[in-house]
Amino acid sequence: MAILISGGAGFIGSHTCVELLNAGFDIAVLDNFCNSNAESCKRVEKITGKTFPVYTCDIRDKAGLDKVFAEVKPEAVIHFAGLKAVPESVQKPLLYYDNNIAGTVTLLQAMDDAGCKCIVFSSSATVYGDSNPVPFKEDMTEGNTTNPYGTTKLYIERILKDLCVSDPDWHVCILRYFNPIGAHESGMIGEAPNGIPNNLMPYITQVAVGKREKLSIYGDNYNTPDGTGVRDYIHVTDLAIGHVRAVERALKTAGAEIFNLGTGHGVSVLELVKAFEKACGKPLPYVIAERRPGDIDTSYADASRANELLNWKAERGVDKMCEDSWRWQKNNPNGYDE
Ligand code: NAD
Ligand code: WQD
Repeated sequence: MAILISGGAGFIGSHTCVELLNAGFDIAVLDNFCNSNAESCKRVEKITGKTFPVYTCDIRDKAGLDKVFAEVKPEAVIHFAGLKAVPESVQKPLLYYDNNIAGTVTLLQAMDDAGCKCIVFSSSATVYGDSNPVPFKEDMTEGNTTNPYGTTKLYIERILKDLCVSDPDWHVCILRYFNPIGAHESGMIGEAPNGIPNNLMPYITQVAVGKREKLSIYGDNYNTPDGTGVRDYIHVTDLAIGHVRAVERALKTAGAEIFNLGTGHGVSVLELVKAFEKACGKPLPYVIAERRPGDIDTSYADASRANELLNWKAERGVDKMCEDSWRWQKNNPNGYDE
């Protein structure tokens, strides 16, 4: 019996594979590699000294999924597979609704057919939208998402809850991540975005390594202490450990549960830049630019439910996040490409 990891070659998936293997689980990865490289799985094997099967398969391919389920016979799925670029989702909403929502429905059908009714799903703090006060709590009204990507997460959450109402045998754990950054401390796996990064940390690391000239800070007139946007950055290893706790609980707990995975602390763009400068030992060139449409001023978690019910707490601080992101980028300036 194993855990099947959809999107397991990606940034958060690969780190979760490490922590699952370290915790003694058998795993199998399923990915179509549209935003990742199979090299990440090889590196996970090197880090852990364990091997696992990797299936090239799209979550929209029902026949392909059926074969994988017949072979792996997973007891649970951790479902990371999805597209996540916010601006691209505004340009190509149908691609996002098809890949993320239709893909998840197909995956759930394959699970149902195979009698595997336990899933941990990668949701996002984006479902809290732009009108809730911080800190965000799981029982707040979700909605008012500001882009199609966020809407896919909102709809998938509803689909999963509906499934639990229809059939009490389903075990569903929805994890709402805040802002994952950092990398495995070995420096062997990390975030490897294609093209120009949308997110702050990969942009910073590419400036530091000389691939980009300067960082644009999107707005310094927000209603925050230094005027720049405040987010709850969480080390990807802490997030990965959260998945181990979540799948352990989901296997034993019927129905749908939702957990925030964040540190509970807000950090501004300028504070993150300063912490990164300390980690890499050089100044980071930046300019103040226009606000980015759809951005909110502040986002951070109330992570007390995960603390209580998953016995999980983020332990790595911002300095460690920056040191580990920098080690990964410095050792792998072109990501997984040689
Ligand atoms: P990622 O792009 O590195 O990983 C996603 C993986 O899914 C990739 O390996 C990609 O190739 C694969 N994939 C995409 N579509 C697929 C399909 N149709 N079939 C099979 N595989 C497919 O992204 P990540 O940062 O590791 O994110 C993992 C999950 O967490 C995503 O669902 C994302 O939306 C969610 N999430 C990420 C963040 C973040 O800031 N990174 C925050 C909140 C939620
Ligand atoms: C963080 C802060 C920017 C880039 C997004 C998605 C969310 C989730 C995580 C996942 C903000 C500022 C950024 C730059 C900047 N997604 N910034 N210059 O927007 O909180 O969340 O990623 O799958 O759904 O919306 O993260 O890293 O893009 O931005 O000043 O070049 O950094 O304005 O304040 P965000 P981010």
